[in-house]
Amino acid sequence: MRTQVAIIGGGPSGLLLSQLLHRKGIDTVVLERKTKDYVLGRIRAGILEVGFVNLMREAGVADRMDKECFAHDGTVISFGETQFNIDFKELTGSNVVVYGQTEVTRDLYEAREAMGGQIVFNTENVTIHGADSDAPHVTYTVDGTEHRIDCDYVAGCDGFHGISRQTIPLSIRKEYEKLYPFGWLGVLSETPPVNDELIYSGSERGFALCSMRNENLSRYYIQCSLSDAPEDWTDDAFWTELKRRIPAEYADKLVTGPSIEKSIAPLRSFVTEPMRWGRLFLCGDAAHIVPPTGAKGLNTAASDIHYLYNGLVQMYETGKSDGIDQYSEKALARIWKAERFSWSTTNLLHRFPDQNAFDLKMQKADVDFLRGNREAQSVFAQNYVGLPY
Ligand code: FAD
Ligand code: PHB
Repeated sequence: MRTQVAIIGGGPSGLLLSQLLHRKGIDTVVLERKTKDYVLGRIRAGILEVGFVNLMREAGVADRMDKECFAHDGTVISFGETQFNIDFKELTGSNVVVYGQTEVTRDLYEAREAMGGQIVFNTENVTIHGADSDAPHVTYTVDGTEHRIDCDYVAGCDGFHGISRQTIPLSIRKEYEKLYPFGWLGVLSETPPVNDELIYSGSERGFALCSMRNENLSRYYIQCSLSDAPEDWTDDAFWTELKRRIPAEYADKLVTGPSIEKSIAPLRSFVTEPMRWGRLFLCGDAAHIVPPTGAKGLNTAASDIHYLYNGLVQMYETGKSDGIDQYSEKALARIWKAERFSWSTTNLLHRFPDQNAFDLKMQKADVDFLRGNREAQSVFAQNYVGLPY
C-alpha cells in the first residue's frame, strides 16, 4: 500500500489530521490499535477552546457540535471558604465550549467513513522504518498478517503509550516529566449538572471538579490516592466525598444518581523534544501530557494538528518546507505555556501529601490574589480560553 501521510493512532489527533488533509486532496491511512467502539468508549475531555472549534469547522465536521455544544463564558473557583467567578468573556472577549471528546471522535469517524477515508483497526506491531530517510514506511500486522505502507511522512498521533515517540533515538530525544502524588477519580452520571458553570474546588480534603456534558449528563472528579482503584469507590462514597469538597450551597442541591462510568487517571506533566525527527512528526498526547486541571490536553493536540496540517499543505501545494521545518519549534512554544498553566492550576487547588502549614498559607495567598486582582484573573482567563495559535 502507498499513501502520502501514514497516521499512527485513531484518537482525536489522528482523525482530525486525516480529515483536514483529505479535504486538501492529501491521502492518508490511519492505523488504530483498538476497535472503534473502544476508542469511543473512553470518557475524557469535555472543554474545547475556540481554536479547536474552528479547526473542526475547517475540517467540515462541526454541524452537530455547533448545534449541541454549550458555550461557557466563565468558571467558579472555590478554595476553602473563598469562592469567586472568573468571567472569561468579559476579560478576554472569548469563551470555551462544552462538547465531549467522545462526540468529537464520533463526528470525526463518521466524516472519515462518509468520505471513504482509510482507517485500519486492530493493528498490532506497528513499526516506523526510515523516518530519517527520504522514503519512510510503516509495517503492522492485523490477524497475524503483515502489511506495509510506503509514505512521504508519518504522523505519530498514538497517545502517551504509543510507539511513535520511542522511534526517535534517545540520543536525539529529551523528555521532561513531573508526576503528581495523586490521581483523579471521574464519574459520569445521568443527572443534571449542579451548576451552569464548571466549579474548580480546592478543599482541605482535596480537589474536586464539577463539570458536565449536557443538561442531563454530569461529569464530576475528585482528587484520589494513586493506590485507589475505581472499584474501591462505591457511588455513595463518591457522592459523599464530592459533597464534602464543594461549597455547601452546591452540595445541598447536588443531584446524585448511579454512575455510568467511573475511572481513575494519574496526573502527569510530560513533554518530549523535538517533536519532529526526519519525516516523523509527533502530535498530541504522543508528545506531551498535562494534568487535566487546565483542560488543555485535547486543546494542545489541536494546536499541533493546526501547525502540522498547514505545514504539510504548504509542502504539497508549493514545495516549500518552512512550515514543517518550524513545526516542532512552533508547537513546543505553545505547549510549554499550556504546561505551565496546567501545572500552576494543579498546584493552586490540590492537596499535596507533603504540604506543611507554610505551603498551605502560600496556596491561600495565591488564591486570594487571584480573587482580588483583575489582571491575575485576566491572565488565568487568557490561558483557559486558549492562547493564540
Ligand atoms: P489519544 O486520545 O490517546 O489517542 C491515541 C490513539 O492511538 C488511541 O486511540 C490509541 O488506541 C492509539 N494507539 C496507541 N498506540 C498505538 C499503536 N502502537 N498503534 C496504533 N494505534 C495506537 N483535554 C482537554 O483539552 N480538555 C479536557 O477537559 C480534558 N479532560 C481530560 C480528562 C481526563 C480524565 C483525561 C484522562 C484526559 C483529559 N484531557 C482533556 C486530555 C485529552 O483526553 C487527551 O489530551 C486527548 O485524548 C489526546 O488525543 P490524542 O489523539 O493525541 O491521543
Ligand atoms: C471534563 O469535563 O471532563 C473536564 C473539564 C475540565 C477539566 C477537566 C475535565 O479541567
